[in-house]
Amino acid sequence: MKGVVFTEFLEMVESRFSGEMVEELLGSCDLASGGAYTSIGTYDHRELVALVGALSERTGAPAGALVHEFGRHLLRRFAVGFPDFFTAARDTFGFLNRVEGYVHTEVRKLYEDAELPTFVCSPVVDGRMDMVYRSSRGFADLAHGLMEATAEHYGEAIAVEVEDLSGGARTHVRFRLRKLQPAE
Ligand code: HEM
Repeated sequence: MKGVVFTEFLEMVESRFSGEMVEELLGSCDLASGGAYTSIGTYDHRELVALVGALSERTGAPAGALVHEFGRHLLRRFAVGFPDFFTAARDTFGFLNRVEGYVHTEVRKLYEDAELPTFVCSPVVDGRMDMVYRSSRGFADLAHGLMEATAEHYGEAIAVEVEDLSGGARTHVRFRLRKLQPAE
């Protein structure tokens, strides 16, 4: 997993909790990298799982909720770092439709060793779209947070129904997205 994901995660921990919490997590996890992440480096994604687990233990928040929250944080950071990806789409569904064939394709050109999930989107009908996530890394909760914050970015609101097709492993998940009307 790319270092940018780790550096952003630790930034979220620092701003949401504290710098001491970052030090505690790095000190308590047995990290092969030693925890000295650089944004262009590549690290075992299980290190992120270990850091999330340690944060969950210390805060009492479920790991899935923390990963979800991290997805929201990450999208806001991507919006700052990659504004062109966002101006290229008109709305939430337009953007989410382009994650697989455009956004992540460009990311792969930037980092050829990126480990990316696959998404299959259904056509948009009556303000609804399904998005099916697959990845051996099981970061569907991250995807969920990224989707919600995408809607916020476009000033829209969506309802998200999550159906885990992998028996709780979070590796194969269908998201049923529905655009909410302003009054809802
Ligand atoms: C400008 C927007 C985006 C950028 C620049 C971007 C970039 C990236 C990068 C750099 C990674 C890490 C790859 C690695 O560690 O090897 C990643 C992973 C991931 N991205 Fe995106 N992404 C964007 C939007 C999205 C959106 C909107 C979604 C969800 C719908 C999404 C879903 C994911 C997931 C779930 C992963 C974790 C890896 C996995 O599950 O296998 N991304 N993305």
